[in-house]
Amino acid sequence: MLISGRGSNLRALLAACADAAYPAEIVSVVSDRVEAPHRGRQAFAAQAELFLGSQRVQLVCLAGFMRVLDAAFVEMWRDRMVNIHPSLLPAFPGLHPQSQALAAGVRFTGCTVHFVRPEVDAGPIIAQAVVPAHPDDDEASLSARILGAEHRLYPLTVRLIAEGRVRVVAGKVEIDGWRAPKRAILNPSEPRRKSPANGWSRTPVGL
Ligand code: GAR
Repeated sequence: MLISGRGSNLRALLAACADAAYPAEIVSVVSDRVEAPHRGRQAFAAQAELFLGSQRVQLVCLAGFMRVLDAAFVEMWRDRMVNIHPSLLPAFPGLHPQSQALAAGVRFTGCTVHFVRPEVDAGPIIAQAVVPAHPDDDEASLSARILGAEHRLYPLTVRLIAEGRVRVVAGKVEIDGWRAPKRAILNPSEPRRKSPANGWSRTPVGL
């Protein structure tokens, strides 16, 4: 697992791995926080490659890893390295995706787990969670709601990969036994159905 910041997704994955029935385990955590700032991309890639190679790593998970990875390193881990991003990609890649979503006025945003490609926040999408934006949201409240979804989505995605059910076919991800939600979610949500006797009245609409 490669992280830079607070490590809450790492904690969510560690919690999932604590269950004996979970099909993956975290064998190493690399944080670039302790790296000397003058180290370049390639030096980091070489070091990380050496380390990961010695740790029987089968899947590299990025969570808030703020370093742009060397293209050769990304290629070496093609379809074996995943990233989580706090938006419904391809919308709002890059920095401050939650603020970008608020500025755009979207009613839903969310998070995406995808296989990593050399371009930032790009690559075949494996799984997404949809999160509603509320009228009184600011960056902090929206980020917290998305983060709650990240902590469910990342362990689910890693489980599917560890079970060997995920593969990339012609640039898109196929998942064996994929169960999609059945219905659309509306925002604003529909009014609850109540009979007029219970106080619900129809709004006259001129058509
Ligand atoms: C998460 O919200 C993750 O989606 C985001 O950084 C945060 C890391 O939090 N990643 C990106 O923005 C990648 N472009 P964490 O350290 O608590 O897991």
